[in-house]
Amino acid sequence: MAEPLVIAPSILSADFSKLGEEARAMAAAGADWLHIDVMDGHFVPNLTIGPDVMRCLRPHVALPFDVHLMVAPVDLHLEAFAKAGADLITVHAEAGPHLDRTLQAVRSLGCKAGVALCPATPAAAVAHVLDRLDLILVMSVNPGFGGQSFIPSQLGKLAELRAMIGSRAIRLEVDGGINARTAAQVIEAGADTLVAGSALFRDGAQNYRRNMLELRAAEAGPRQASA
Ligand code: DX5
Ligand code: ZN
Repeated sequence: MAEPLVIAPSILSADFSKLGEEARAMAAAGADWLHIDVMDGHFVPNLTIGPDVMRCLRPHVALPFDVHLMVAPVDLHLEAFAKAGADLITVHAEAGPHLDRTLQAVRSLGCKAGVALCPATPAAAVAHVLDRLDLILVMSVNPGFGGQSFIPSQLGKLAELRAMIGSRAIRLEVDGGINARTAAQVIEAGADTLVAGSALFRDGAQNYRRNMLELRAAEAGPRQASA
């Protein structure tokens, strides 16, 4: 892994009645980014938050907002999320027929652009848009819910994408079922950016730093992390 590890807590696992407080606690615990899961009840079978909630959350932390849009169609919502304070906007390759155009729109709004791939979507889905990308997100669960189990077949996809990325400045993020054990595996496979919800937001805010350090320890290698 050439780039320093980035850890992005997913606020999907936070207490939604006090999102600001939860975000501040994660920032204090050493988070690099904040991962914001937006679900539309159509592309995925769950509903979460929209740009108004994100705008209210924005002043609470200085962390970059890594916005994962599980929304289809998505183009008509991009501007609202950019205005609400997104730094990076990730759209799903499966969410619309014109991915290239969508990525151009994200960058023209002044945000970094990412593409997410569901578990069944091949790495080749991004082969012809690499120059429009700042991040590729490999979903290691089927999107829609936190707390699911990691799908091991995604390790091969990560390795494929790492090779495809080559020397380009594209982060390789993984999302779903990440804990200290799977973190070591995905880092080994080439991921440099980890999203984690349930593994970080557990046992109360007083333990967020401990949870964060357990994930960071995975960088040292699979043997040390599982010991
Ligand atoms: C799932 C979301 C993930 C999820 C991760 O659709 O994109 O960000 O919150 O949660 P854990 O880490 O619990 O699998
Ligand atoms: Zn996500």
